[in-house]
Amino acid sequence: MIILSGIQPSGTLHVGNYFGMMHPAIELQEQGDAYYFIANYHSMTSVFDAGERRNNTLGVALDFLACGLDPAKSVFFRQSDVPEVCELTWLLTTLTPMGLLERCHSYKDKLAKGLSPNHGLFAYPVLMAADILIYDSNVVPVGRDQKQHVEVTRDIAIKFNQAYGETFVIPEPQIRDSVAVVPGTDGQKMSKSYCNTIDIFGEEKPLRKTIMRLVMDSRPPEEPKPNADQNIAIQLLRLVAPEDVAKDWEERLRAGGLGYGDLKKALFEHYWEYFAEARAKRSELENNLDHVNQVLKDGAAKARERAATVLDRARKNCGLV
Ligand code: ADP
Ligand code: TRP
Repeated sequence: MIILSGIQPSGTLHVGNYFGMMHPAIELQEQGDAYYFIANYHSMTSVFDAGERRNNTLGVALDFLACGLDPAKSVFFRQSDVPEVCELTWLLTTLTPMGLLERCHSYKDKLAKGLSPNHGLFAYPVLMAADILIYDSNVVPVGRDQKQHVEVTRDIAIKFNQAYGETFVIPEPQIRDSVAVVPGTDGQKMSKSYCNTIDIFGEEKPLRKTIMRLVMDSRPPEEPKPNADQNIAIQLLRLVAPEDVAKDWEERLRAGGLGYGDLKKALFEHYWEYFAEARAKRSELENNLDHVNQVLKDGAAKARERAATVLDRARKNCGLV
């Protein structure tokens, strides 16, 4: 089984990224041949500063390795180190109906936010399709917001196979219901575009502040809270604390008499503890950037070899050679 996923270097990674995509991806590396990459070509649709892209790319590499991506088990690389993916994108664009891309939520959301779209932003799902198809991927672990893009990939692959004969494996998205949408500090989906994130890594003080600022309702502590399971702090606690501990806080909130401040303090302590090992690993890696660069270089060589085989197959089947 080939498992593949990518993450954009377009900002600091947050716990939504971690539980929605990184953690499932890291667990899956035990179950098949995993290919994980830093989608720096994709980041070009929204980040227009070279230094920022370079820094963010290194940041994602450090974060992912610190969180448990094991280069002995997974192939880890930068998207742009496999330029074959750009050629495959062209082959796929010619079979991609405009309507399919016009219907993509992420594109429509960005339009609605007033972003003036470039062609890259519009064509982004086709590059994503090439990323997936070029490794014969079977399973794509992502958060729910990326599901539609994997469906677009399937549509394009089916069209290509119909037009030119069996070429591509049809991939399946893998979305964990329990973490499909991690809430941010304001209760909306956690996302760097909503400025409601809790970072995975960072300084203790500002992170504690962020958690203490989680938006709660104005009911007094003594009032019972029958909908305690909907509370953002409880939802986040379930991710970072043992099950019985999270259940206990939920029951105390439901019963009444618990102040939100105490709940948030407990959430911070569990969150801080949850990422303690990763934090130590990240500091170690920061002092060993040669190792990190070597991991990406080795990963790129392995990924490129596989990509070249699939691209070759596609080129032959569509009559380019
Ligand atoms: P952002 O919304 O912050 O820009 P990205 O779109 O770069 O995040 O997402 C990177 C990966 O993390 C994707 O697989 C996405 O589905 C997942 N992800 C992002 N935010 C969340 C969230 N709040 N809950 C679950 N998964 C998420
Ligand atoms: N579009 C994804 C995101 O923003 C990143 C990505 C690019 C990706 N190519 C991919 C994810 C291929 C999975 C498979 O999060």
